[in-house]
Amino acid sequence: MKHETLSARPADTPHESAQRHVTGTADYTDDLALPQGALHAYLGLSSVAHGRILSMELSAVRAAPGVIDVLTAEDIPGRNDVSPIGAGDDPILARGEVHFHGQPVFAVIAETRDQARRAAVLARIEYEALPHALDPLAALESGGDLVVPGMTLRRGDAAAGLGAAPRRLDGRFTIGGQDHFYLEGQIALAIPNEEEMAVFTSTQHPTEVQHMVAHALDVPANAVVVNVRRMGGGFGGKETQMNLFCCVAAIAARKWNRAVKLRPDRDDDMIATGKRHDFVVDYSVGFDDSGRILAVTGDWYARCGFSADLSMAVTDRALFHADNAYFYPDVELRSYPLRTNTVSNTAFRGFGGPQGVIVAERIIEEIAYATGQDTLTVRRANLYQNGQPTPYHQPVEDMILPRIFDELESSCDYAARQQAVLDFNARMDGAGSPIRRGIAMTPVKFGISFTATHFNQAGALVHIYTDGSIQLNHGGCEMGQGLHTKIAQVVAEAFQVGLERIRVTKTTTEKVPNTSATAASSGTDLNGMAALDAANQIKARLVDFLCKAKDATPEEIRFIPDHIVVRDETIPFSQAVQMAYMARVQLSAAGFYATPKIHWNRAQGSGRPFYYFAYGAACAEVSVDTLTGEYVIERADVLHDVGRSLNPAIDIGQIEGGFVQGAGWLTSEELWWDDAGRLRTHAPSTYKIPLASDRPKVFNVALADWSVNREPTIRRSKAVGEPPFMLGISVFEAIGHAVASLADYRECPRLDAPATPERVLMAAERLRGGALGLRDR
Ligand code: MTE
Ligand code: HPA
Ligand code: MOS
Repeated sequence: MKHETLSARPADTPHESAQRHVTGTADYTDDLALPQGALHAYLGLSSVAHGRILSMELSAVRAAPGVIDVLTAEDIPGRNDVSPIGAGDDPILARGEVHFHGQPVFAVIAETRDQARRAAVLARIEYEALPHALDPLAALESGGDLVVPGMTLRRGDAAAGLGAAPRRLDGRFTIGGQDHFYLEGQIALAIPNEEEMAVFTSTQHPTEVQHMVAHALDVPANAVVVNVRRMGGGFGGKETQMNLFCCVAAIAARKWNRAVKLRPDRDDDMIATGKRHDFVVDYSVGFDDSGRILAVTGDWYARCGFSADLSMAVTDRALFHADNAYFYPDVELRSYPLRTNTVSNTAFRGFGGPQGVIVAERIIEEIAYATGQDTLTVRRANLYQNGQPTPYHQPVEDMILPRIFDELESSCDYAARQQAVLDFNARMDGAGSPIRRGIAMTPVKFGISFTATHFNQAGALVHIYTDGSIQLNHGGCEMGQGLHTKIAQVVAEAFQVGLERIRVTKTTTEKVPNTSATAASSGTDLNGMAALDAANQIKARLVDFLCKAKDATPEEIRFIPDHIVVRDETIPFSQAVQMAYMARVQLSAAGFYATPKIHWNRAQGSGRPFYYFAYGAACAEVSVDTLTGEYVIERADVLHDVGRSLNPAIDIGQIEGGFVQGAGWLTSEELWWDDAGRLRTHAPSTYKIPLASDRPKVFNVALADWSVNREPTIRRSKAVGEPPFMLGISVFEAIGHAVASLADYRECPRLDAPATPERVLMAAERLRGGALGLRDR
């Protein structure tokens, strides 16, 4: 059996819903037609950061127009917990105590959403205030309670290495969090029938929602069906956060035997759902006069919020990426997942990785300024060489960053532009202008696989109908990243048929069970292989049947575009399918895949957590007004490794989006809680994501088209969803470079993240020696 590659270039394949997205005909959960008698739920949120509930006066809520019911923790038939790790610390509705400002305490059920929303604010809840710790440092001071045990990664003797190093630097780095700001917010629609609860929602993890709803209703998992056609963006914010909304809708739906929809408004969504973890990191680095790193120690203090959620895996991944692309000969890294009286932080693109990578880049910058070298020289000098071990004892074997650096340096004309930046700054200095430029090139090396090994599995279900049309289902969810398009391409190529023959249906727990979250960038790697497995099973049956029917050998059968060739006879694909059906051949198959080779022992801090690494580099140039702190990204050049691309157009879109989202995290996106624990940045008026006009003025994105995954992944491609996020760090370092010019590049500006205009201004002021008389808040 042979097959020839389909002639259509994958780049010609647009996103499966591209037209529907832009014409407004793509159905999101909120667009689904509601069954007759559908009700609407709205959540009532706590108004203190930590307190004991003394009394709940809900009669005004109950009496409000249109209100059918008010649910509290007492109304939950089963388990009142949505902890994804079974920690039991994540109540659906708070009972007895609240642990953060904005925690759901009750749910109003009404005839309309507007009525439910207006009624929710009529509650009078009395609390006995309890002490609260809001940020990592406050949490440390008040005893350092951890939501899950921290991790240590250790290789060699870091203390001895630091002691013996000719030079040493110590620093503290504060790294901000980030709101997901998905376009479509959290949403759940529960539709009950006599024996089942159907949930339509926008989760990245239908299987987890299925289990959470089953536990809350006290029914087995087989009585709950969870369906996801698409999300309007997830970015990790819908890996676990949808559980609570789905449970509330399902509990109300079961109680009233009517469909119930729950959709918080944007402010409540931002207040009541978890975000990227912010960290305070204390680091020490020992190095030699040439700038080579000899030893690193670091303590990562994370604001986890009030419960565990995914904080163990997130803080672990921060440590896994604390080396970024650099070899640390002696190293000891520790994480402290601290409990705070804030919303429970969760997955966000990169999943803690970015908060590790940026510390490695800070260390590089410190060394470059201390030794008076160009930052790129120091970066290059410290890159892993193949065979060198990571702090978790997995050796790096596929290092391609030297080539990526070489090609990007020449394509973006780094050397000449760097000189031009230095010249520009000298001229501006002479002319008394506050404008400065900065340029930086930073790499990323990102580990691909869920670090919890058992999540690295997937299933798929492929049906061929007798008209030759194909229905494809797999365990992954579409959130805009193009997953369904890529998996359809895989199956189309396997059968050598056009994409128009293939329909990828909504993700549903009815078709593929026991799925993992669509997360860790592994959606295509896992589900693509499962879908290929299913397609190959059906192909093998078709070949077997045709061998018998035509007295041929498997070698004499070829799949060519839209046909199957048996010796010198060319049979249209649909006709071959019809013949197979008549001969009673099964035309449906369930496929499965489990990533090979990976294993991880957390207690020992050792193993092979990642199947492979994805690489990339970006060069950003910025201009900064050092009198206002404002900046513009003048130009960004990216060269990124996606192995052999399944779909260059989609991959480039992921890289552009990741870069801009990463730059937003480190520039304008600032989360700010007041002393009472109230999130004061809970709407676009106060929380600034990048605008279209904030993107780099010149933006060149290219794929390292020579790269091939050395592991046999789906078509030798590499995961692309998260790694490019960390390329946004180049913008942060370029801003630092511009600011450093104020003190003739003698001092590392030690900017904290996000580098808001306010922070940039204060960093500039420090380097100018307080010339403007400004004081930090
Ligand atoms: N791209 C779009 N357009 N929307 C998203 O929500 N999520 C990101 C990334 N790219 C996201 C996205 C995150 S956090 C992950 S883990 C991956 O997509 C998940 O999809 P994949 O595994 O299919 O790449
Ligand atoms: N990445 C993303 N999501 C996850 C992971 C991970 O490593 N582990 C559990 N959920
Ligand atoms: Mo992505 S943070 O793994 O959903």
